[in-house]
Amino acid sequence: MNINTLISAKKTIFDEFLRSYLRDAQSDSGVFEAFSYSLQAGGKRFRPVLTMLACEAAGGRETDALPAGLAIEMIHTFSLIHDDLPALDNDDLRRGMPTCHKKFGEATAILAGDALIFQALAVICSSRYPAEVKVDICRTIADVCGTRGLVQGEYEDVMAEGRDLGLARIEDIYTRKTSRLFELCMYAGARVASDDPDLIRQMVAYGTHLGRAFQAVDDILDVTSSRDTLGKSAGKDLIQDKATVVKALGIDKARTWAKSATEQAMNALEGLGAEQTGQLRELAKWMLNRVT
Ligand code: IPE
Ligand code: IPE
Ligand code: MG
Ligand code: MG
Ligand code: MG
Repeated sequence: MNINTLISAKKTIFDEFLRSYLRDAQSDSGVFEAFSYSLQAGGKRFRPVLTMLACEAAGGRETDALPAGLAIEMIHTFSLIHDDLPALDNDDLRRGMPTCHKKFGEATAILAGDALIFQALAVICSSRYPAEVKVDICRTIADVCGTRGLVQGEYEDVMAEGRDLGLARIEDIYTRKTSRLFELCMYAGARVASDDPDLIRQMVAYGTHLGRAFQAVDDILDVTSSRDTLGKSAGKDLIQDKATVVKALGIDKARTWAKSATEQAMNALEGLGAEQTGQLRELAKWMLNRVT
């Protein structure tokens, strides 16, 4: 199956799972309304697709990965809602729609983001995963989202505005704010299917490098693409003087940097069968192709 067809088939399965979750969880809470809006506004569903592919590469079925994928998409959406707030990136468009705080007000958007973190934990805890898998995934969520991961990365990203950081520091911000969640996709997808520590380690390493490449691609697209195409603001990293590989290296070298990070992702899978990892390799190339 060609990679575009594969991604869109997995996205369709995920979107149906999300819809059915929201139907079952239906509530008249204004916070529920706000986070449902952001979850359903669109999005590539790259993380749930990645989680499904990791699960299959580890010998599982894609449907086994759905609760993990949903929890991760919830955490990702929380991070986007908060990333868009006036105190952070101050954006008014997300996934082609007004940002959560533009639509519902700042207080509701903050609380909708907060709620998504706990809904994500509830999704894992109420899944059919064995107890030890639930604990492993919840522990990893806590690890990748806190001060070793996403939240710290977002903090450093905001604090770095207007400063000239070296490549190592920029890579560190990318790793925290973006790669850690990719590591979680790989970890959770693989863990659902396998408890082989070596396999899981290789999968997670793929996530680390792919996440860095993904953030570099996002930063390149911020310069080369448009608001209409992206469904979010463009040209804004320059205005806010964000620490990106584009700022540090220029567009051409940033592309080379993203390509090299993508190759490192694929190298991390070395030793695993081509049959097993072919789709993960194709996904990495697909991701890089957004800017080449
Ligand atoms: C945007 O992520 C935030 C970054 C880490 C760059 P995506 O590009 O995956 O956003 P959606 O989910 O498709 O909206
Ligand atoms: C990644 O960086 C954001 C998160 C990890 C939430 P950006 O701030 O560049 O993401 P976009 O461009 O707003 O989607
Ligand atoms: Mg940001
Ligand atoms: Mg942003
Ligand atoms: Mg961006």
